[in-house]
Amino acid sequence: MNPAPAFSFNTVPNIVSAPGAARELGIHVSARFPDVRRVLIVTDPGFLSTGLVDAPAASLRDAGFHVKQFSGVLADPPEHVVEDALEAARQHETGLVVGLGGGSSMDVAKLVAVLAASPQSLAEIYGIGNVRGSRLPLVQVPTTAGTGSEVTNIAIVTTGATTKMGIVATQLFADLAILDAELTLGLPPAVTAATGIDAMVHAIEAYTSRHKKNPMSDGLARQALALLSRNLIRACENGSDLEARQAMLLGAMLAGQAFSNAPVAAVHALAYPIGGIFHIPHGLSNSLVLPYVLRFNAATCAQQYAELAGIVVPHIEGSMEARAEALSVAMQQFATITGLPRTLSQVGIHATDLDLLADDAMKQTRLLANNPRPLSREDAFDIYRSAL
Ligand SMILES: NC(=O)c1ccc[n+]([C@@H]2O[C@H](COP(=O)([O-])OP(=O)(O)OC[C@H]3O[C@@H](n4cnc5c(N)ncnc54)[C@H](O)[C@@H]3O)[C@@H](O)[C@H]2O)c1
Ligand SMILES: [Fe+2]
Repeated sequence: MNPAPAFSFNTVPNIVSAPGAARELGIHVSARFPDVRRVLIVTDPGFLSTGLVDAPAASLRDAGFHVKQFSGVLADPPEHVVEDALEAARQHETGLVVGLGGGSSMDVAKLVAVLAASPQSLAEIYGIGNVRGSRLPLVQVPTTAGTGSEVTNIAIVTTGATTKMGIVATQLFADLAILDAELTLGLPPAVTAATGIDAMVHAIEAYTSRHKKNPMSDGLARQALALLSRNLIRACENGSDLEARQAMLLGAMLAGQAFSNAPVAAVHALAYPIGGIFHIPHGLSNSLVLPYVLRFNAATCAQQYAELAGIVVPHIEGSMEARAEALSVAMQQFATITGLPRTLSQVGIHATDLDLLADDAMKQTRLLANNPRPLSREDAFDIYRSAL
């Protein structure tokens, strides 16, 4: 392998990782944006109901900001949510957007920051590099340890009834990300498990990304996988373990940095139709197809999987192929131990649905292009059938 391949790497310029940091949101924001007066917080009704929005919002008000909350984000946000949030931003004459929630809220916050001051419409910016001009200042505060959206240049929207589409643009990198595990203490075990596995998938797929694999993403992916695999069960078994929660947030963020520069591939391509059509949470959708995509890809990248197995299962021995297989087994065990469904049948997907899923997965050309092994429609169908 070329030890110094050509590559470029981008990430968010300011990152604060400290329990309690969200209670000082106003101080962090005013230090960096002294001229901003009006702030829109973008969140969802589930997170709002925890009451955890109050302290960061109060801290912004204490720092002199006029704060409005938009709490209408739906999971896997459909286009109308982005439009509603945009309307709220314009009415408030927003000067800065704060995404406070999981990937869904942070993705909507990104799009609001980009579109609020732009003549472009949402429809015009789907795809890679289609955003023109600048955006409003943007601060991201994750409340799940999963998507890494706080440091990625990607936003995912559900278009029509079922299809998930991505917007990828440099402007979607936030100005500041704040990682505060106090916000994640109340996450139910099933959400902790699914979002944590999503983050691990980001690390694994970044490490084997076909065209943009690079040494910085590799290092971040390895560190992310170490943090996530050592803390996921701890965080699921004892939700109030602040240390494990902060480690999960850090791991998810590092994985986000990795995959925004070495993009994810077939696991996500096959997971999106499961989320889009059957409304299965994103992390769980990934987890359901993961072992089978890893086995399919192992024909091409057993060496990389064996390297990652050494992180997830530290005392693993045996041939390269055996160690690669150990990674699939270990990832499946995370689902088993944390009590997540392990088969498509368990989430209500049947053999008669597989054609629809396979057809839809093939539309994810942006992601499939990153897969280490070319994947046909027949391969996608076989993988779904294995996952039944
Ligand atoms: N932009 C990216 O880089 C990127 C990467 C991966 C996934 N995504 C997208 O992110 C979305 C998924 O995000 P997610 O997995 O974080 O879930 P989510 O944002 O959809 O939230 C899931 C649920 O968890 C609840 N929740 C969130 N934080 C909570 C907390 N601290 N306590 C209690 N409940 C809480 C929410 O109310 C919601 O009901 C999908 O739309 C996916 O496509 C984006
Ligand atoms: Fe993901």
